Amino acid sequence: MSYAAPLRDQFGRSIEYLRISVTDRCNFRCVYCMPLEGLDWLPKGDILSYEEIESVVRQLAPLGLRRLRITGGEPTIRPQLEKLIAMLRAVPGVEDIALSTNGVRLPQMADSLAAAGLSRVNVSADSLQPERIRQIARRDLKFEPLATIRAALDAGLKPIKLNVVVMRGINDDEIGDFARLTLDHEVHVRFIELMPVGEMAGLTWEHVVPSAEVLDRAAAAIGALSDSAGPAMGNGPAKYYQAAGAPGTIGVITPMTHTYCGTCNRVRLTADGRLRTCLYGDHEVNLRDPLRAGEPLEPLFVRALAEKPREHQLLQMQVGGLRALSQVGG
Ligand code: 5AD
Ligand code: SF4
Repeated sequence: MSYAAPLRDQFGRSIEYLRISVTDRCNFRCVYCMPLEGLDWLPKGDILSYEEIESVVRQLAPLGLRRLRITGGEPTIRPQLEKLIAMLRAVPGVEDIALSTNGVRLPQMADSLAAAGLSRVNVSADSLQPERIRQIARRDLKFEPLATIRAALDAGLKPIKLNVVVMRGINDDEIGDFARLTLDHEVHVRFIELMPVGEMAGLTWEHVVPSAEVLDRAAAAIGALSDSAGPAMGNGPAKYYQAAGAPGTIGVITPMTHTYCGTCNRVRLTADGRLRTCLYGDHEVNLRDPLRAGEPLEPLFVRALAEKPREHQLLQMQVGGLRALSQVGG
């Protein structure tokens, strides 16, 4: 079967990638993401059921959405996530389903997720040191990055990407350790610039480590990096580099500049069924209520794309005035 070419937005970007948040909750409380207390969780009735998520995807896939990513909050804490993966796998036109997770439950779930049709995973890992992981995530849950990588690779969830939010004075001394992982493992380590959004637990601009500095420090640890890995690594926001002979790669994601908005190919569905055409700002369209009323979603989607902004306004925006990324789906 063949499907329509992806829809294009007003700036000619083709939109083929939908990120689906299945919960706003999380079993971690990472300092850069969630406040420790006082979070208002979405009421259960506001959250799309798996059947409703599937229905959204079924209606939008014919418009060219081919790739899906399941996010949260922490998606693996929603019961029976495998069921959703299998349902989405069965939707004609869906080619690829990825998962973004903090990895805590991955060792137990990797096999069943893969069997359900999951293609690959991105794992958040801000430190390789257990004590430090506890300090950043502010929860005493067992998370072992290396065991998690192993479980994912063994289950065939490849390529595996590790997302590291770099914070000066907190984990930037591990840039070299993370870079070294790429010498021994088929893992793609992506260093993400800290973004001043949502609740920040005392983190400020001073904790931001620019990606250029991260790359310098990675190269100091493992030798010169070439950028020839780039084209092979897909069309997300990261730029990729590689040490000679390394099985893995190093990526940098620089949200504080506009380097990736021009090729943005994605939209987001929040847990409560709103379509967001940009991670930041207030471009939201309610799909849930029309869906529950039995109305077609296609016209709403087409209109939302027509309004997708050219680029985010992060640098101009007030810190703290935004929905936390855990609410938006990262
Ligand atoms: N800055 C940068 N990245 C963030 N994430 C969440 N909050 C922030 C922030 N303030 C992203 C990271 C993390 C994922 C769960 O969400 O990539 O690994
Ligand atoms: Fe949870 Fe990810 Fe936010 Fe950490 S960054 S609190 S793991 S959603």
